[in-house]
Amino acid sequence: MELLQKTDNIQEDMLKGFEEKINRGDAIEPKDRMPDGYRKHLIRQISQHAHSEVIGMQPEGNWITRAPSLRAKQILLAKIQDEGGHGLYLYSAAETLGVSRDEMINQLHAGKAKYSNIFNYPALTWADIGAIGWLVDGAAIVNQVSLQRTSYGPYSRAMVRICKEESFHQRQGYEIMAKMMSGTPDQREMAQDAMNRWWWPSLMMFGPHDSESPHTGDAFRWKIKRHSNDELRQKFIDKTVQQAEVIGLTIPDKDLKWNQAAGHYDHGPINWDEFYRVIGGNGPCNKQRMAHHTAVHSEGAWVRAAAEAYRLKKEKQILHQ
Ligand code: ACO
Repeated sequence: MELLQKTDNIQEDMLKGFEEKINRGDAIEPKDRMPDGYRKHLIRQISQHAHSEVIGMQPEGNWITRAPSLRAKQILLAKIQDEGGHGLYLYSAAETLGVSRDEMINQLHAGKAKYSNIFNYPALTWADIGAIGWLVDGAAIVNQVSLQRTSYGPYSRAMVRICKEESFHQRQGYEIMAKMMSGTPDQREMAQDAMNRWWWPSLMMFGPHDSESPHTGDAFRWKIKRHSNDELRQKFIDKTVQQAEVIGLTIPDKDLKWNQAAGHYDHGPINWDEFYRVIGGNGPCNKQRMAHHTAVHSEGAWVRAAAEAYRLKKEKQILHQ
């Protein structure tokens, strides 16, 4: 009984210390004590984020050999490599919470971990590469700028670097769209078609409406989220509508209109059935994305084995010094 009381007191002190830090706005660091729920919430979110970066390389990788110029190919290659790097920072940030990269990848392959809805759509034309950079990375930036102030130190620091790179990605996408919109009627049509297909899935990237978002309560309490799904979605819409207008693209939403009183654009209803279908594994490319990731992961087993053998060799050398 006494032991139980002591354990309760230790738990309470830990929670108090944690909450005081959160309330002061201090970062929580890997060695700090933290409630189990906070740790689990972060592992879920950061691993989902890491998987998204890595799976997101697939639709774009498909276009490296078909980029229309050497310049476009170099830029696309650099961007895709950045995405791989983002995945690595994020896996490392999650590892500081006590989960290994192997475990996270196993969860992805077993269908237990999610990745962003958006990467389950195909990149059909070169304009899709523009739309991905401009809209998908544009949406990611809005979300990630907010996450620079998230409460977990390693996650927030990863976001600072990621945001700098994402802003280059967003511009490369917008440049592709602007170039196509100043081209031939066929090119303009191709750009508009890409806009039509990527607009709504990009809005879904911010997650369900706040009233339907089960994790938002804890995320706000623990300052993991600094802005809600709907707030960030609105911010993205407001800035993107103006960018579309400048290059002559039409937003595929007949209900989109400026709301003077609210100071932002109102938009039409989002197809949440489609969202849940896609994140539930039944989007246009889910099976293809997972099959590719699983195959490439198993083809890379020899690299991991070689790295492990090298680590053991170095460890032995240090022991014998
Ligand atoms: N794609 C796939 N699943 C999603 C998405 C999405 N766009 N949005 C929400 N979900 C899932 C959540 O993971 C959660 O499922 P789970 O309980 O099985 O984990 C469920 O829908 C309910 O959503 P929320 O309660 O709103 O969940 P959460 O608070 O985690 O918010 C959000 C969703 C906005 C995606 C948040 O997790 C976040 O900010 N994540 C980091 C950003 C990120 O992952 N970006 C990836 C794309 S950017 C890029 O790679 C270029």
